[in-house]
Amino acid sequence: MNIAIFASGRGTNFSAVLRAVKRGIIKAKVSLLVCDNPKAPVLNKAKLAKVKIALIKREDCVSKKEFEQKIIAFLKAGSIDLIVLAGFMRILGSELVREYRNRILNIHPALLPSFKGVSAIKDAFLYGVKITGVTVHLVDEEMDHGPIIMQKEVRIEQKDTLEKLEARIHKVEHRIYPQAIKLALEGRLRLIGRKVLLKGVPS
Ligand code: GAR
Repeated sequence: MNIAIFASGRGTNFSAVLRAVKRGIIKAKVSLLVCDNPKAPVLNKAKLAKVKIALIKREDCVSKKEFEQKIIAFLKAGSIDLIVLAGFMRILGSELVREYRNRILNIHPALLPSFKGVSAIKDAFLYGVKITGVTVHLVDEEMDHGPIIMQKEVRIEQKDTLEKLEARIHKVEHRIYPQAIKLALEGRLRLIGRKVLLKGVPS
């Protein structure tokens, strides 16, 4: 099985997935990193781990369709089975979603459908919610929207700073994303309408 990770930034989730592969938790290969940002630190992580990189800038394409067709060409060449979005700060369009429907996962640092978008941890912190968390979901054409696979709550304590909360959320992300990826690769996600049932996982 081949995984492609899409990332635009630091890549701590990229590293967490690689660690899970090394430990045998995820039985697949991270065969491709798709990145749209030439300055992203994740690029160096991929180089060090000898993961093939597809660096595709949106500005170099005349349309979103062309951008996604270029990505799809890399995915096909790499016989990619599962796409894992890890801080890829773009909404996927219909080209990609149609081609890989129900085979694209995303992680989001809040309890969806609350606090969608690029600054979810800060938004939840400033809003003053007492409980926030992490969501892993299947990707559809809308931002931070598709059927939810897994959620884990993170409490916001009275004395929390944004930095402390971010650190706790990322720790949870790095723990649950590999679990969700493993379930997806093992064919244990059963989609009924908008609901995802996890086969063999006690609720
Ligand atoms: C992660 O916190 C992920 O949940 C978030 O981007 C970060 C990437 O961090 N994604 C979103 O906000 C999606 N809307 P990383 O580059 O260190 O893995």
